[in-house]
Amino acid sequence: MAPRARYPCRPGRAQVRAKPLKDILEELDRRRDMAKAGGGPARVEAQHKRGKLTARERIDLLLDEGSFEEFDMFVEHRVTDFGMEKNRQPGDGVITGWGHINGRMVYVFAKDFTVIGGSLGAAHAAKVVKLYEQAMKVGAPVIGLFDSGGARIQEGVDSLAGYADIFLQNTLASGVIPQIAVIMGPCAGGDVYSPAIMDFIFMVKDTSYMYVTGPDVVKTVTHEDVTHEDLGGYRVHALKSGVADGAFENDLEALTQVRRLVDFLPRSNREKPPERESFDEPDREEPSLDTLVPANPNKPYDIKELISKVVDEADFFEVSPGFAQNIVCGFARLDGQPVGIVANQPQVLAGVLDIDSSRKAARFVRFCDAFEFPIITFVDVPGFMPGTKQEQGGLIRHGAKLLFAYAEATVPKITLITRKAYGGAYDVMSSKHIRGDVNYAWPSAEIAVMGSKGAVEIIFRNASAEQIAEHEAEYKARFANPFVAASRGYIDDVIMPHGTRKRIVRALKSLRGKVLENPRKKHDNIPL
Ligand code: HXC
Repeated sequence: MAPRARYPCRPGRAQVRAKPLKDILEELDRRRDMAKAGGGPARVEAQHKRGKLTARERIDLLLDEGSFEEFDMFVEHRVTDFGMEKNRQPGDGVITGWGHINGRMVYVFAKDFTVIGGSLGAAHAAKVVKLYEQAMKVGAPVIGLFDSGGARIQEGVDSLAGYADIFLQNTLASGVIPQIAVIMGPCAGGDVYSPAIMDFIFMVKDTSYMYVTGPDVVKTVTHEDVTHEDLGGYRVHALKSGVADGAFENDLEALTQVRRLVDFLPRSNREKPPERESFDEPDREEPSLDTLVPANPNKPYDIKELISKVVDEADFFEVSPGFAQNIVCGFARLDGQPVGIVANQPQVLAGVLDIDSSRKAARFVRFCDAFEFPIITFVDVPGFMPGTKQEQGGLIRHGAKLLFAYAEATVPKITLITRKAYGGAYDVMSSKHIRGDVNYAWPSAEIAVMGSKGAVEIIFRNASAEQIAEHEAEYKARFANPFVAASRGYIDDVIMPHGTRKRIVRALKSLRGKVLENPRKKHDNIPL
């Protein structure tokens, strides 16, 4: 047998010449330029005319200059139904990658409305899923910028599948990495549930809206005529439904505020929230706090004044400032350590706990506990809101959310009662009984089952007005102070208002080594 040729070469076959490197690089540039052009100049102009930036412009503003590393710029859909083969754009309507915010890593996806309306098909969804898988492995927050017409209608069930794949990622990532959604245009149908599972939703005023079904479907089903804005604009979600945690004037402000929020957040639950050097003296006294609480117990005051005077450099990032304003939630630092703050607001509905304020604060407390933020609670609460509207709306279950969230939280919990702590609301607001670690009261605190007038009218139902006034004074003298609770050890100390910052900073330091674990279980059954 003849020996085999070592490098056989078929006779007559022309040798294939490799493309010169220069041509390959030009091709790369051409493809990159195509991807970066999005839907083309006309659609970009239309985007700008609506007061919206493009997806790439948004990413540039969100991230530190030059830090963005893009993934999957060349991914395209493979659909051929409904002439879609002629409507292919590299990137497929979503830009994904990672970069830095003030030097700290985040993953980003930004929907590009100029490409098929930012709608979601299989390839688009796969890019987002891949980003999530990477973010979970590495342990870094995900920020999603939403501007999309929802499920790509031409892709049918594949787009529904793509949404579900993302919802699963959102769910698995919950409590592991922080997730922030910024709604910067339409966010309809399938697109709304991803933000809904994420930790924070911010909207841009007047250019964004969120709804499950749009005005056309509403008209067909309920015969209601409604605008995009009235159905799902920021006034609906940031002020009434509580779906959104804030609304900003324009794209620039929204992205700047997200950068500010990210500065407070840990990369994942594998590390603590980032500390930074504080230039605010930890034992700074604030004499004006001695007169913050008015002599008249029914006169309101602004709890935000207390917050800004106590925290480092008065820097407070408020979450959901427009919704359930009777409770204030947000992030701040104390001697450089990030903390979550929850405070009843006597200026709105006397700081009462109702359905909305309970829901808002419960969600915030759970975020803090999941990501190791110590919780500082300022209490001035006359109780739970009475009335048929509240009871029919399920106040019992919603109020229990806040109680449950505080009770299960194992992070350091410091509580200060400034004035009223009445009834069940006293128990709920991070009391000693549900594992408050350090519980202080100002001398102006009143800890009782209810206000003295209401209490006396129940106990002495048939008494004369004169007798009622007498008993009221007696009840006040007995309970309208912090000393009964302090004598039982329910309050650790009665502190002077001007020394509040110093005492809370010291308490926080003392709790650095706190170790507390809940009983083992698959998961709890929070009253949803
Ligand atoms: C495919 C879409 C699209 C979509 C928009 N486009 N939404 N293509 N699927 N869902 C395309 C348009 O055809 C158009 O392409 C381009 O994007 C820009 O859209 P316009 O309509 O010109 O923009 P505008 O006037 O600003 O209106 C925006 C809009 C509207 C209100 C979002 O596009 C709209 O109503 N879209 C459909 C919304 C929707 O019903 N989505 C499906 C939801 S159901 P051309 O080439 O003409 O410029 C859903 C179920 C999933 O999501 C459930 C999973 C759990």
